[in-house]
Amino acid sequence: MARKQNFNWKIGEPRPRIEAHTERKLEVIEQYLDVYFDTVTANRRMDVLRITIVDGFCGGGLYQKGSETRYGSPFALLNAVEKAKIRVNADRHKPLEIAAQYYFSDANKLHMAALRDELLRSDFARQVDDSIILQTGEFEHILPKVIADIKGRQRQGRSFFVLDQWGYMDVPVKCLQQIFSALDKPEAILTFSIDALLNYLRTDGSGLEGLRQFGVTEDFVNTWQALKDDENFGRATAQRTIMENLRRNSGAHFFTPFMMYSKTDKRWMLLAHLSKHQAARDKMLSVHWDQQNHFRHIGKGSLFELGFDHRLAESKDALFSFREEDETKLMMELENELPSRVMDNMIDDVLMVEDLLSQIGNLTAAQ
Ligand SMILES: C[S@@+](CC[C@H](N)C(=O)[O-])C[C@H]1O[C@@H](n2cnc3c(N)ncnc32)[C@H](O)[C@@H]1O
Repeated sequence: MARKQNFNWKIGEPRPRIEAHTERKLEVIEQYLDVYFDTVTANRRMDVLRITIVDGFCGGGLYQKGSETRYGSPFALLNAVEKAKIRVNADRHKPLEIAAQYYFSDANKLHMAALRDELLRSDFARQVDDSIILQTGEFEHILPKVIADIKGRQRQGRSFFVLDQWGYMDVPVKCLQQIFSALDKPEAILTFSIDALLNYLRTDGSGLEGLRQFGVTEDFVNTWQALKDDENFGRATAQRTIMENLRRNSGAHFFTPFMMYSKTDKRWMLLAHLSKHQAARDKMLSVHWDQQNHFRHIGKGSLFELGFDHRLAESKDALFSFREEDETKLMMELENELPSRVMDNMIDDVLMVEDLLSQIGNLTAAQ
């Protein structure tokens, strides 16, 4: 297994230096979890929230930024729950318990040893091997038992998965299918290096077998080869095709893609949120707007189709990026486009708002 300089943990050795895009990714996860807990605990009569949090690519737990320590994903998740316990109970008469079970795993045993060491020296020490289960192993092998545990413990299967792989092959689409078919209320945040996949196609590209699950077929390669001299356009259309395939094949109905640029790797990374509910996707979009993040796609933000579309060639200068001017334009376009969409989808002159939202949820950057 290749080891990356900036993700290398070993007890007794300096912690890895945190990269800007890793900080940004963790910020998005933390901010989303704040919104998530506020939403799922909104019912005042609830007295316990059971949730399982799975970090399948957890790394060693801490990073260094100059003289400061920075939290990696496992600590970010633990802290988010602790903060939520305080926040949601601040104005409640009847206390709400958040009963969280954590599964942290990584294929690298040195990383797991480093994480155990950091946890045992933290405020979470007493939870280790109790509500915090630590396992060494590849995610796809660990997942079936984790799903079975969740189903045994929680009727609703409320769960949150962080799948922060390096490249693009360590979270096979079948794992996403298992999560979204077995559980009622799962959400996942997935990183996926589309550019690493395209680089692979550029430099080798001999075996498409493992890539078909992402929609990378002979047709895809031919179209992309024809476009790739127009660097941005070729990349963006390929990104959209892969996003659409991930969405379709994962079994998650709603899919919110962020694109982040890594200066170290000089590559764009996809950070996607997957859920079964429009409301969850909408909450994730609020984080996009708030962060004015680096999600880009070719074309407009109002109503768009993921996937390759030749018509995009005509609008290739239009990149949507969650800024104020994009919002104004988006509102104007939606005002023009929505009425016909509504008319076309009415049955006996009726279209339920929730049906409209579920039809267009994936096709707009609007909340
Ligand atoms: C990007 S790093 C994770 C960083 C971590 N989430 C954080 O925020 O600090 C990716 C991790 O995935 C692990 N890994 C690589 N292949 C894996 C696989 N097939 N299953 C599980 N973990 C894997 C690596 O050892 C590495 O620690």
